[in-house]
Amino acid sequence: MIPTVIDTDPGIDDALALLLAWGSPELDVLALTVVAGNAPLADTARNAARLVAVRRPARPPQVALGAAAPLRRALVRTAADEHGGDGLGDAVGWPPVTGPPASPSAAETLVALARAHRERLTLIALGPLTNLALALRLDADALRSVGRMVWMGGAVDVPGNVTADAEFNAYVDPEAAGEVFEAGLRVDLVPLDATRQTRIDGGQLDAALARRPGPVAARIAAFTEQTFRTWGYMNLHDPLAVGLAVDESLARWETARISVGEGGHTRRADGEPNCRVAKVIDVERFVALFFDRLCPASS
Ligand code: RIB
Ligand code: CA
Repeated sequence: MIPTVIDTDPGIDDALALLLAWGSPELDVLALTVVAGNAPLADTARNAARLVAVRRPARPPQVALGAAAPLRRALVRTAADEHGGDGLGDAVGWPPVTGPPASPSAAETLVALARAHRERLTLIALGPLTNLALALRLDADALRSVGRMVWMGGAVDVPGNVTADAEFNAYVDPEAAGEVFEAGLRVDLVPLDATRQTRIDGGQLDAALARRPGPVAARIAAFTEQTFRTWGYMNLHDPLAVGLAVDESLARWETARISVGEGGHTRRADGEPNCRVAKVIDVERFVALFFDRLCPASS
């Protein structure tokens, strides 16, 4: 099993990504580090606790509180229309939960696990990179020893989803993304170029949930209902990052140097490569893996 930490701003697609991770025997999810992004930190932290309570993974992860705002700007809520007022599609019927402890922080947790597991550790980042940047400031050498940092973020050769050039996670905290890309980490970038290939519709999800009836399937139907009613489809942005942490052969990768602009653009630049970019996805194999692992066999 791969020791894994997931940095997340749940968020509907983050929630599906966490469920995929917990359904993947290859990953040993040691901790969730929570960040503000799709919703304010209080909501994303509560949502992480909700998902642990509903899924009840064999190893309950440590949940650590992270940044309530980007490094050097105010938090923008441009994702509210996609993730609902509470960050999980305004679904009702969640169990009551208590939020994570105030310490250790997300940055301290990332550093501690990087020091403990080094090249065996995979970091999966599903939101703005504020926590990763704060962890780098605590101990950059520890973060550089980590095997893989798989980030759902950016738009390389395609338009952004917040501005013409900027994808949401990069747009919210471009300074943090810039620090991460310049730090010498082993970055596997999963940008919109890749994630937009992974679109599903409500009927596909309904059929998959019907094969695994139970409380987890019912929760997924509840927190995705608003998305499919509003848009009719969903891109599996964050789940694809988990899928590529599980099996990198699901993508064809390009080595590149990516620079992060102050407006959150993530475009090709001259110079030494600083990441791999997932470009072409084996969509049929990934979507099958996603649906097969989303709900536990006997939930
Ligand atoms: O642009 C998509 C990304 O922004 C996903 O991580 C989604 O959860 C939002 O955070
Ligand atoms: Ca996210």
